[in-house]
Amino acid sequence: MKLIIAITGATGAIFGVRMLDLLKNTEIETHLVLSPYATKTIKLETKYNIKEVEEMADYVYAYKDLGAKISSGSFLVDGMIVAPCSMKTLSSIRIGLADNLISRAADVMLKENKKLLLMTRETPLSTIHLENMLYLSKMGAKIFPPMPAFYNLPESIEDIVDHLVYRYFDQFGIHLQAAKRWQGLNQK
Ligand SMILES: Cc1cc2nc3c(=O)[nH]c(=O)nc-3n(C[C@H](O)[C@H](O)[C@H](O)COP(=O)(O)O)c2cc1C
Repeated sequence: MKLIIAITGATGAIFGVRMLDLLKNTEIETHLVLSPYATKTIKLETKYNIKEVEEMADYVYAYKDLGAKISSGSFLVDGMIVAPCSMKTLSSIRIGLADNLISRAADVMLKENKKLLLMTRETPLSTIHLENMLYLSKMGAKIFPPMPAFYNLPESIEDIVDHLVYRYFDQFGIHLQAAKRWQGLNQK
């Protein structure tokens, strides 16, 4: 399987980083693009530097490299995750702007009817944000904000992050052994 992972400048860079970390050394090929603001949130919010994050991916592309292979619908890829997805990137995907490799690759996913998962992150949400999400949802994108669950009794931030990351992977049929799954109220 080949997956494009894009990290944009919304808070929550750790989600995209954790995905790369879990997929490194697996048979899943990762293709990474970082927006300029993602490089800032990675430095601010995580213990990793940009080199370490890039080394987790199989392939890394420059944000402005619109000539990269993932910019083309002819490149065979299974889907794309934008984690986290800022409201700016959300809006550029919604209008098909395609002026950087993240919005272009997402545009390609939509035109090729491939899986596009947007971990949209902002709060509170304006009508503009909600309308952009609704529009893209109707086009087939999966709108999946990072909303924590508590039924699994997380003990750390890592638990909360991992639970969500496993749910994102489920969307692509990637089912990791470590994922804790709800067993029913009487099974606790
Ligand atoms: C620390 C930090 C946190 C941010 N968090 C968010 C956020 O949660 N959601 C959002 O839409 N924008 C957020 N922003 C603003 C985006 O980074 C900004 O809109 C930027 O233009 C997004 O560009 P990009 O999508 O190309 O990364 C944040 C910025 C900073 C510096």
